[in-house]
Amino acid sequence: MRTAIYPGSFDPVTLGHQDIIRRAAAVFDRLIVAVMHNQNKTPMFSVEERMEFLRRTTGGLDNVEIASFDGLLADYARRQGACAIIKGLRAVSDFEYEFQMALANRKLNPELDTVFLMTSAEYMYLSSSVVKDIAVHGGSVAGFVPEELVEDIMLRTRKGD
Ligand code: COA
Repeated sequence: MRTAIYPGSFDPVTLGHQDIIRRAAAVFDRLIVAVMHNQNKTPMFSVEERMEFLRRTTGGLDNVEIASFDGLLADYARRQGACAIIKGLRAVSDFEYEFQMALANRKLNPELDTVFLMTSAEYMYLSSSVVKDIAVHGGSVAGFVPEELVEDIMLRTRKGD
């Protein structure tokens, strides 16, 4: 049983994330999508909301679990018996930062490899910040996030302002 972890803030999950989840779930036996804490970010959605969005997005994928963890990714991976971290690469500009993270994570847990999956070309520009910016300014996030989340994200974003 080969377990992989796809970590992120997922604030909120986008079509780009969903694309990576589908690809990773097809390659690994078990995929844990983990809502983690990025110390450089203040999230707009609570951990519970972000997990709920992810659950609704991945309903049809039997080998995908949604979890959250507020510590080191390398430790969490060890506890889960994971052999890989999944990261999506959108552009060359993502590479330097991701390379640094991958090496740090391997130093912390030598049994852990980072597997990079290329995002589909149509989602290269996409990020959670883009989605939030559109929603906060009253635009439609249709075509940016999974269809079933569009209404909720727009509603909850407006409520929060
Ligand atoms: N499609 C669309 N958007 C994507 C994407 C894809 N395929 N891949 C990445 N993104 C977006 C993300 O939504 C995020 O957008 P945002 O900046 O607007 O929020 C951005 O690209 C950056 O993604 P990422 O670098 O994965 O950051 P993150 O905040 O989502 O996740 C953690 C970072 C949580 C994985 C990292 O901080 C972590 O591991 N934390 C745990 C603590 C730890 O172990 N730290 C030491 C690590 S060495």
